[in-house]
Amino acid sequence: MIDSEKLLYDTIRPVTWQDNGVRLLDQRQLPSNEVYLHITSTQALYAAIKDMVVRGAPAIGIAAAYGAVLAAQEAADDALVSFEEGFHRRLDFIASSRPTAINLSNALNDAKLVSEPQKQLLNWAHDWFKDDIAANVSIGQYGAQYFKDNIRVLTHCNAGALATGGYGTALGVIRSAYQQSKLTKIYATETRPWNQGARLTLWEFEKDGIPATLIADSVAATLMQKGMIDWVVVGADTICMNGDIANKIGTYSLAVLAKHHGIKVMVAAPTTTIDANAQTGSDVIIEYRDQDEILPTHYTDNAIDALNPVFDITPAELITVIVTEKGVIESPDASKMQALIKPIR
Ligand code: MRU
Repeated sequence: MIDSEKLLYDTIRPVTWQDNGVRLLDQRQLPSNEVYLHITSTQALYAAIKDMVVRGAPAIGIAAAYGAVLAAQEAADDALVSFEEGFHRRLDFIASSRPTAINLSNALNDAKLVSEPQKQLLNWAHDWFKDDIAANVSIGQYGAQYFKDNIRVLTHCNAGALATGGYGTALGVIRSAYQQSKLTKIYATETRPWNQGARLTLWEFEKDGIPATLIADSVAATLMQKGMIDWVVVGADTICMNGDIANKIGTYSLAVLAKHHGIKVMVAAPTTTIDANAQTGSDVIIEYRDQDEILPTHYTDNAIDALNPVFDITPAELITVIVTEKGVIESPDASKMQALIKPIR
């Protein structure tokens, strides 16, 4: 058993519980400033998730788990409705902050099942947090086993410690493989429009002393054409019951490119990212963010607008392997997904 506190290349904790509130590393300010916010209300937590102070599906799930503790405290002080009604209303409110990161509603639905919530929720949330890091360490080990020596990987967005409790999913696999000296090159896409790759993944790698190379998103195709990439390794915001996944916009195009060039695609995610109610990718709600995130300020005329979906669906047939902490699924399909979740739910 590996002690996750003592892992190499793992120093970042974006979400913790401190002084009766949620301590969030403000990811909007990285890499320039390392600033932490202290969140003490469900209203403030909703805003922090929506505004991307905390982002990445598992990290959002952990923030929501601690948010459930705040929700219980607020509900206990709410004289207008019963505790249960006030509690559930606040959980549903937090859940509405971002629709595609399924860990958010999975955590909050789980919170509703905790008995004696005012007494037990904090311990339950701590467990949710610790379980996530442990899951990532297992994912890292399982995923790295797929790599032979001298492997060149490409990752998209940020599926690292910043996007989880710690260690990361896709970056957990990369951390683990790097530790085993299996990697000769790590490429990170910029990940337009929010630049999670350029701002966050590179910050993580720099902080933990892992060498990496930044590319503009549009460079991936030419690197693949030149035979410079062996594996694409990404995380997920939702895993569907047929093995389709939702992840950061641009994942689908990378998977199509990878298929064309005979490159393997690994999706690394904990089982808390599985949506048992989503049979296929078409059941996933894709988040669209404000057009101002991509529209140059020059265009104030209503004749010009912008379309800003921030996730896309990668169909199962483009995925070589899904790596979870409970096991791996090669060439994912509905029956393999069913077998994976059977012991869980
Ligand atoms: O919009 P974001 O930054 O929350 O999107 C994050 C991603 O798409 C990640 O790849 C995904 O959540 C997995 S994180 C382990």
